[in-house]
Amino acid sequence: MDSAEAQKQIARLRQQIARHDELYYRRAQPEITDFDYDALKQELAALEQRFPELASAESVTQRVGDDRTEGFQVYRHRERMMSLDNTYSEEELREFHARLVRDLERDELSFVVEPKIDGLAVSVTYEKGKLVRAVTRGNGVEGDDITANALTIKTLPRTLAEADGVPIPDVIEIRGEVFLTTAEFQRINKQREEAGEPLYANPRNLAAGTIKQLDSREVAQRKLEIVLYGRGYVEPVSALPETQTQFHGWVKAWGLPTVEKFWTVTGADAVWDAIQKLDTLRDSFAYATDGAVVKLDSVSLQRRAGSTSKSPRWAMAYKFAPDRAETRLNAITIQVGRTGVLTPVAELEPVLLAGTTVARATLHNRDEIARKDIRVGDYVLVEKAGEIIPAVVSVNTERRTPECVPYVFPERCPQCATPVVQLEGEVAVRCPNFECPVQVRRRVQHFASKACVDIEGLGEAMVDVLVEKGWVRSVPDIYRLRREDLLSLGKNVGKSSDNLLAAIEASKRAELWRFIHGLGVPHVGAAAAKDLARKFRSLEALATAKYEDFIQGKESVISGIGETMALAILTYFNEPRNRATVNELIAAGIEPVVPAAGSALAGKTFVLTGTLPTLTRDDASARIEAAGGKVSGSVSKKTHYVVAGAEAGSKLEKAKTLGVPVIDEAQLLEMLRG
Ligand code: IVH
Repeated sequence: MDSAEAQKQIARLRQQIARHDELYYRRAQPEITDFDYDALKQELAALEQRFPELASAESVTQRVGDDRTEGFQVYRHRERMMSLDNTYSEEELREFHARLVRDLERDELSFVVEPKIDGLAVSVTYEKGKLVRAVTRGNGVEGDDITANALTIKTLPRTLAEADGVPIPDVIEIRGEVFLTTAEFQRINKQREEAGEPLYANPRNLAAGTIKQLDSREVAQRKLEIVLYGRGYVEPVSALPETQTQFHGWVKAWGLPTVEKFWTVTGADAVWDAIQKLDTLRDSFAYATDGAVVKLDSVSLQRRAGSTSKSPRWAMAYKFAPDRAETRLNAITIQVGRTGVLTPVAELEPVLLAGTTVARATLHNRDEIARKDIRVGDYVLVEKAGEIIPAVVSVNTERRTPECVPYVFPERCPQCATPVVQLEGEVAVRCPNFECPVQVRRRVQHFASKACVDIEGLGEAMVDVLVEKGWVRSVPDIYRLRREDLLSLGKNVGKSSDNLLAAIEASKRAELWRFIHGLGVPHVGAAAAKDLARKFRSLEALATAKYEDFIQGKESVISGIGETMALAILTYFNEPRNRATVNELIAAGIEPVVPAAGSALAGKTFVLTGTLPTLTRDDASARIEAAGGKVSGSVSKKTHYVVAGAEAGSKLEKAKTLGVPVIDEAQLLEMLRG
């Protein structure tokens, strides 16, 4: 490569890296894996080394990034939050060790090896043991003040616990990582899948997106967690720990969540051994662990080693390469979502990856297939890191045979044969047919789901049957179902048909927000639906709302509802079919429950039965009444909810027969929160 070519390539790489930084840090929507990103950085670093005259003073050789976003107050860290040098190579890790041994003039050095948590870096400040602030890393110097959101994290103590021999500094910035457990990540993605919304690629993006929500009630709906592992500014200096090992002990003694495991070891071989152990254990951790962080144990030696402008010389991240495997792409199938989006799916020759057998991977959209030139019959590289949705990374063109012809994306919906459309500015290809049977099924399934009006007995399979029979062609059709039709489904279906009809009847009195959520307006999730219900108080009022009801002079009128959502709502109700849905629901006799302002449970009658997990019966009654609800001793058709605990008896049975909604304690507490 000559200098002119190198110059072009360097410019290209810088541009790509800047773009991926923006996607990763500000939008929390990376398009490539960390591994591929690091490869770009390495290529750039290698070129800059070969052609030093082309290296800029502002050379990007490590991800420094900037996560600051609009809407938050910025706060200046008292001590800078650095990033870490990272490597995928054992050799480079050993060089790191050798360099420290040389620079510090020691025969041996001790290190702490701890998990590198794939979350979002935050700094939590405690003053005299009280939590005063939580801030994101930002650009390292200043970050976004996310205190309100961090306070939704139940495991983050407001006060540091006191313990013998453990100081409580006057001021301490404790560094850590906010994350979502794999289970919580999967729960949220499942909900999004059901709602036809795009899935999050991994827990890190979801955690980053969540902590940056402007509405902390929205944040509280997702169970964020935190783990703390490092220190920033500490006052007085006498409250500094002597070693990182000791600091982990303090974090624990203060009652803060700490890393699941760490190793204090001496010498490069022992460091490497610990990393191998971590690799075998990490799947069992609650958080995604994408590597190991190796830190010099002694704090005084850390100081002597010092840092570069961006990262300490005393620590290094060793990253585990994601699991990848080559396998054959047997077919490309197309899934149609609730809003008509066609999503291509790779049907793969099953292959073992990151401990699970992978037979399918998402191909995202039409453009993605074209960009990677993915063809049926190709051998493709599939990647899966932990719980991340498997993805096709690239094609091995060397194994391509002449039979592999470019993939032609369907021009018609595979379900109803309507010609597909691609709206301007969207990557998604859609089936525009509102009556497309898959869309109908998904819409009805969503409406009836637990997250919406919650009709027991109307699960996915039952909806499939009703749509197939032609009895349900739209959401309001649910309320027009006929008993004799249901009875024709089989022999002994009398009781289950009656139960279903009772559940459908009971759903007419679901809370308003459940209906709003159930309509499936793009971008409107449960939390937004609650905000809208509080503001508009009826479906009609929402359906006839004007732009000014949402946005005035660029400002949101309803907290939590920004312009994107406002436009989505207006567009939705502008569509005559959607207005018709609302009118038909009203005509079917729905009576959405709207809480009186300030009292979450006004006008609702509850019956308690069985033993609740945490509340006594008196507590529960008091709380319901304080929120404007009524508690009654017996179940009737007028009962709005039966709250059932362990060993619930005949009242539960009666509720089921009458079609009265049954909730548990957690749902009651949720309602009390409004
Ligand atoms: S120590 C000066 N320890 O990785 C040392 N960082 O790639 C700075 N990270 O910005 C960090 N787990 O957000 C440290 N056990 C751990 C970590 C960890 C995850 C993150 C952290 C940092 C990034 C650097």
